[in-house]
Amino acid sequence: MDSFGVTLQKPVKQRNSQGRETMKLTPMAPKCGVEISGVTLATCSDSEMDEIKQAIYEHGVAVFRNQEFSPEDHIRFGKRWGGIDVNNYFPLQEEYNEIAIVKKEADEQTNIGGAWHTDHSYDQIPAMGSVLVARELPPQGGDTLWAHMGAAYDALPDDIKEEIDGLEAFHTADHVYKADGIYAQTDMGKNLRGQDLKTGAVHPVVIRHPHTGRKMLYVNGGFTINFVGQSREESLPLLQKLLHAALTDDNQCRLQWKPGTIAIWDNRTTWHNAMNDYQGHRREMHRITLSGEALAA
Ligand SMILES: [Fe+2]
Repeated sequence: MDSFGVTLQKPVKQRNSQGRETMKLTPMAPKCGVEISGVTLATCSDSEMDEIKQAIYEHGVAVFRNQEFSPEDHIRFGKRWGGIDVNNYFPLQEEYNEIAIVKKEADEQTNIGGAWHTDHSYDQIPAMGSVLVARELPPQGGDTLWAHMGAAYDALPDDIKEEIDGLEAFHTADHVYKADGIYAQTDMGKNLRGQDLKTGAVHPVVIRHPHTGRKMLYVNGGFTINFVGQSREESLPLLQKLLHAALTDDNQCRLQWKPGTIAIWDNRTTWHNAMNDYQGHRREMHRITLSGEALAA
């Protein structure tokens, strides 16, 4: 097995010396995502937590099925991971302010996160990732897609790798969430907060993952505006080339949610995209955003 798990073996049921079932890691796709079974997230041990973290840093997203996970479990898990960033825009769960609600009512047309993006890249210290729990699902549809930005970087042609070496980019969320922004022009606008906030951060276009050291392409179509030292117009040709090249045939995975499904992903390793193909049905997910660290080339 190489360090990125690309050649992971078929799962084998393993038990430790106490006879307890140990975790099994099954890749979701050749270069992105892993399904982890044989673990109860709410009560996992410290060594299981370490193994889960490493798997998410490498594969980008981990999926857990048939989990019982109360709001208290959700918050406890986020704190245990290393801290919670409260999202400034999503509505918060009334009783539990650390939990953001990602929901779409049956009579709403627009969903949250319905295009490829990376959460919180507009923050100086972007959130590490999210723990997303399915609470109410449509009868079908509403899948989530992830794309691996380490595999995306690897697949870039050498001349583009050279062109972006040392380049930095500016990210903001203002155009998405402000009073006349993208969401405000839809029926999702009324549900969101933070229209007056100002955000902005500069990050390297290619970062080293803080834990694996792997090179990751770190621009995204949601929040990356321009390269430092270039206007938006000057930046667009290369930016669009990168956004297009970042989605290869084999660096994506797709999750079909079921009751009891939890996904945890790494914003440095992946982009994600929430499918909006369940019109007329309600969908509600609970999200805790995990604190991250400063990013460097
Ligand atoms: Fe998102």
